[in-house]
Amino acid sequence: MISALIMAGGEGSRFWPLSRKKMPKQFLKLSDEQCNMLQKTVQRIKPLVDLDNIYISTNSHYAEQIKEQVSQLDEANIIVEPLKKGTAPSIALSAAVISKRNPGSTIIVLPSDHLVKDNESFIRVIKKAVMTASIGKNIVTIGIKPSHPETGYGYIEYGAKAHTIDGCPVYKVENFKEKPDLNTAEKYLAAGNYLWNSGMFVLNIKTLFASFKKHLPEIYQAILKIKAALGSEDQAELIKAEFEKMPEITVEYGIMEKADNIYLIPADFGWDDLGSWPALGRIKKEDEKGNIVIGKHYGIDTTNSIIYSPDKLITTIDLDNLVIVDTNDAVLICNKDRAQDVKKIRDLLSNAG
Ligand code: GDD
Ligand code: MG
Repeated sequence: MISALIMAGGEGSRFWPLSRKKMPKQFLKLSDEQCNMLQKTVQRIKPLVDLDNIYISTNSHYAEQIKEQVSQLDEANIIVEPLKKGTAPSIALSAAVISKRNPGSTIIVLPSDHLVKDNESFIRVIKKAVMTASIGKNIVTIGIKPSHPETGYGYIEYGAKAHTIDGCPVYKVENFKEKPDLNTAEKYLAAGNYLWNSGMFVLNIKTLFASFKKHLPEIYQAILKIKAALGSEDQAELIKAEFEKMPEITVEYGIMEKADNIYLIPADFGWDDLGSWPALGRIKKEDEKGNIVIGKHYGIDTTNSIIYSPDKLITTIDLDNLVIVDTNDAVLICNKDRAQDVKKIRDLLSNAG
């Protein structure tokens, strides 16, 4: 029995002002006008997992829009956290819900905010991960060859080949380091035996609970209480009370950095996290002046820029290497090389209320 858990409660901030708390990255239609990134994630895993066993986790702010957007899923498969506490509490709650239905399930945990170019290769890799997860009490991660010292990702240091699954090597993970500083990321890149964490992992539900018990006992105890109350009248109240007490922590910091039973399957299926505006350059075709235009733009001597303005005509003269984004109520103009700092604007605005 295989289940998929798609995590869709994040607030991705580097596509501000298009992505907002109300409209985080997983709901943006960046690569495809028909489907947003969450809908594409559901479609991607469907060839391997029945709709009945695909779950989406989110928090109460996004639950209604997810129910509408992914209407092919039963409402019971949308797992709603009362508060945003990060991926560790979120995964634990979902595991409690899934285990109630399928106690022996192997769970494929998937983020909802990235793209994959080659879906068939993706399915082949995930099948191998499912096989590896069933060999022992393993957490199986999917690693991507790094192209630059990105500080927004996790890095997986791998060691010796531990298994061969379907003709492909599976490596033992030596260390997991979430979001290193630039110096460290450069060292990892030079070392050659580090891959980026794709954010996807596969494990049996029993391994999942054992990992929480060992590394995040506080969350584990809370989840045991929640599991016992599932289906009862006071379920919602109890989940809320337990979530209020839980620490806010991601699965990478809480479990991956501490666990010693992690394996890695290298993948090359055209993974793209689409981390910020310039990443559109990898999925959209530039015009002859090196511009990527989504919407309406007329430019004279305007080059190498990213311009997003679906409603209003943007006109520019003598500009190079900029990001210009026009949305209903906010405009962003920044140097393309500083596009990562858009997050800082978003954070400043959030702090200002
Ligand atoms: N249900 C739920 N609840 N989902 C959440 C929550 C939460 O509290 N917080 C985040 N998510 C979802 C996001 O919507 C996204 O799909 C996924 O979990 C990962 O969260 P992000 O916030 O996007 O993480 P990240 O991009 O900073 O880092 C992760 O992804 C990188 C690659 O894209 C980590 O896994 C890194 O190690 C990895 O390299
Ligand atoms: Mg992300």
